[in-house]
Amino acid sequence: MNNKKENMAEWFPQSANKQNSPKTKTSTSSNPVVSAPPTRLGVVVGGSLSKGLVVKLESAQSVENLAVGRYVVVHGAEKRFFCMLTDIELNTTTPNIQNDPPNMQDDFLRAVYSGTIAYGTLYVAPMLSIDVDGAPKPVKTIPNHFTEVYNASEQDVNDVFGQEDERHFNIGAPLELEQTQINLDLKRLVERSVGVFGKSGTGKSFLTRILLSGVIARQAAVNLIFDMHNDYGWQVTSENGHSVKGLRQLFPDKVTIITLDEESSRRRDAPYDFSVKIAYADITPEDIAMLKGTMNLTDAMIDACYTLQKRWGDNWIARLLDGRVDDIDEITEHTNVMAGTLAGLQRRLERFERWGFLSREPVTDSVEKIIHFLTQQERSVVLEFGRYGNALDAYMLVANYLSRRIHAEYVQRVEKSLGDSSLEPPQLMIVIEEAHKFLDPMVADQTIFGIIARELRKYKVTLLVVDQRPSGIDEEVMSQIGTRVTALLDNERDISAVLNGINGASSLREVLARLDTKQQAIIMGHAVPMPVVIKNRAYDEVFYSTIAIERNRNVREGGEDMRNTLGSGGKKRV
Ligand SMILES: Nc1ncnc2c1ncn2[C@@H]1O[C@H](COP(=O)(O)OP(=O)(O)OP(=O)(O)O)[C@@H](O)[C@H]1O
Ligand SMILES: [Mg+2]
Repeated sequence: MNNKKENMAEWFPQSANKQNSPKTKTSTSSNPVVSAPPTRLGVVVGGSLSKGLVVKLESAQSVENLAVGRYVVVHGAEKRFFCMLTDIELNTTTPNIQNDPPNMQDDFLRAVYSGTIAYGTLYVAPMLSIDVDGAPKPVKTIPNHFTEVYNASEQDVNDVFGQEDERHFNIGAPLELEQTQINLDLKRLVERSVGVFGKSGTGKSFLTRILLSGVIARQAAVNLIFDMHNDYGWQVTSENGHSVKGLRQLFPDKVTIITLDEESSRRRDAPYDFSVKIAYADITPEDIAMLKGTMNLTDAMIDACYTLQKRWGDNWIARLLDGRVDDIDEITEHTNVMAGTLAGLQRRLERFERWGFLSREPVTDSVEKIIHFLTQQERSVVLEFGRYGNALDAYMLVANYLSRRIHAEYVQRVEKSLGDSSLEPPQLMIVIEEAHKFLDPMVADQTIFGIIARELRKYKVTLLVVDQRPSGIDEEVMSQIGTRVTALLDNERDISAVLNGINGASSLREVLARLDTKQQAIIMGHAVPMPVVIKNRAYDEVFYSTIAIERNRNVREGGEDMRNTLGSGGKKRV
């Protein structure tokens, strides 16, 4: 038996070694097919534009090493087709082999069967093509039969996603190509709304910090971040106990922290510029109407808010909470508000008295201060919620209240700037968490966030929504989310919601459902030329120092710019 094997090995020395590479440790000569970059994976043997290509796997390639989501390139005669691996299959040419599998312990049999009678098939979705003139274009055709398919090389990735520059920011590496990087077009990212989706613990907050770092570093937009869990401003402790830096620490002169809960910010040593206070008198019935779902308000209660404001003026909330008998009688006698409705509304609004950021007295206008930071100083603002982050109704009240007013100011400014472009405010991105609560189909057409998502970039305000349950977001709003960054989702409805409206979405379904549970995401839409799966860039010491180097360089170059402007008598105010 042994003799026989040796003889066989003598007869077929090379091919036998190739097929056996994982088992045989004959490291004397490295296998040229495997080591030559880029690796040839196989040849196209079928497929269609709508369903994707079928690729017969090279016998030297092991199916085990190919994960869905991998980025592969078909080298056609005149074009390169950039594709995503969407499915893998084991095939045989003779069905009988399934009834009588060969003995794969036998190296010779393994060599004979593998890749010929038994072989792997890849399904790849073509997403984009680059022809001789070098410009990426949407795919409108497919390659010929037997065209070769390769793993993507660094050059391939750069040809599609561009080099990192003042507009492009590295957010991670394509799957299994960790020496390369995916650079996101930040200008395109911020000009439409963005969604970051994924189950709990998949790395949404980390990824959002990376995206925001890029936007701030490259000055693509200023951000207003409603920081529900104190994730973005200052130091945060990650799941494994390390503490990671907040945006204020990375960009001390570009980020301002403000707080709703001074005690919490002080306890965490987070330096804040001011604490946000809102006077009862500034809250309008429209602000209360946004809380319908979360505060369980009836339509009658919301109507009552309008009636009370009409009769009592701006002081209506304080007066309702005081609940003096003659006041209540007056309302029930002279209006059509029922006593039960009034009592119900009063009970629901009672929680306002426990929220320290609300005040019976007039307060200095936080909206004006925030707008000053955003537009005059071009700083991003992180609003820390402290302990109020656990109260969804408080989060929604404040986020709606501030966004409505800031958006109104932006609309005014942008309209004014049509005559004088120097008045144009910087692009603003508003970041909200638990977005489905603000954007569910019942309220999306009224809330300010629904309005912002739908009006696109007209008024230079867009959203970055972070959410675990994208299926809860109104379909129309979802269709306006330009760039979708999606970590693992396992609920079918959430997966469908995220893929709705994306070209070739059905083939991405498998990929999305099989992402790692952490630090992997698929990015699709406006900011990338084609969907791509990435291993998210690590948010760690290396990241901080890269940002610091970049910041120092900007400060130096900014200094020179300023000198030039002043030297040439430019009218830029300093
Ligand atoms: N880019 C990254 N760099 C370093 N660590 C990461 C990264 N992404 C994720 N992690 C790790 O994964 C953990 C969970 O990530 P994160 O807190 O961002 O999840 P999440 O999706 O925001 O969860 P939740 O929905 O509960 O808020 C982090 O504590 C961190 O340890
Ligand atoms: Mg989070």
